[in-house]
Amino acid sequence: MKVRIPKVDFSTVPIHWAPNPEFAQSYNAFSTVPAHIEPFLVKVMIAARKVLDPKHATLHKEIDIFIKQEVQHCKLHQAFNQHLVNSGYEMMLPIEAPYKADYDRFLKDRSLRFNIAYSEGFESMGCAAAQVFFEDLDEFLEGADPRAADLWRWHLAEEFEHREVCFKLYKALYGNGVYAWLYRVYGFAYAVKHIGSHTRRLAEAMIAKDRAHMTEDEKKASEVRLAAYQKKIKKSSLKRLVQVLSPFYNPARRVASPGMAELLARY
Ligand SMILES: [Fe+2]
Ligand SMILES: [Fe+2]
Repeated sequence: MKVRIPKVDFSTVPIHWAPNPEFAQSYNAFSTVPAHIEPFLVKVMIAARKVLDPKHATLHKEIDIFIKQEVQHCKLHQAFNQHLVNSGYEMMLPIEAPYKADYDRFLKDRSLRFNIAYSEGFESMGCAAAQVFFEDLDEFLEGADPRAADLWRWHLAEEFEHREVCFKLYKALYGNGVYAWLYRVYGFAYAVKHIGSHTRRLAEAMIAKDRAHMTEDEKKASEVRLAAYQKKIKKSSLKRLVQVLSPFYNPARRVASPGMAELLARY
């Protein structure tokens, strides 16, 4: 695990950066997640570090790198998202606002245990999403603008790289009992629903904006493309996400996808 700092100028990346524009817009909507969740993760980790026994020296070091990686992810996604806003998608901002506010509320009102379980829920989504992106989406990524595609490849490969940190932290603080497992699953389910409903709402709005300029035939073609992408992502994600529910789930057992190490070696 190490910190990598890519420098990318997104200002000329097409909004529809992949041949399937609805696929691109879905990932554009996902890009707002790290912009808001990752500052939250950093604050949760800083709070957790204070209560984590110093005897977990390796985990303390891993949390430090985790924080630095998340800060870089957040910065690059914010730059990408600003490019979307500058390109005529100011309508994203009011949709993002309540989602962003939820994280301020979690930090203020919810327990550290909830915030860590939620964070681990997000992290388990992240490492599954990394395998999906590297293994199952080639048909959508062929011909994509490499600046946008590599933003995701770099981020998701690092999500995969640090996939155990939050999990180990949760176990170190809350143990391995039945209640610890059930509460971890609760945090995961909460994160899936919370993040999923935000990204769905935003992607729908962005695609609706695109469709406003389409003919009826173009709209029908857009619906077909969106359905093809949704069918693929659902199937590919579901089989990996159900594993998180198991009391024996351990992200360490997930196997790195072909291409992850090579991608990270480039940075
Ligand atoms: Fe991240
Ligand atoms: Fe992460």
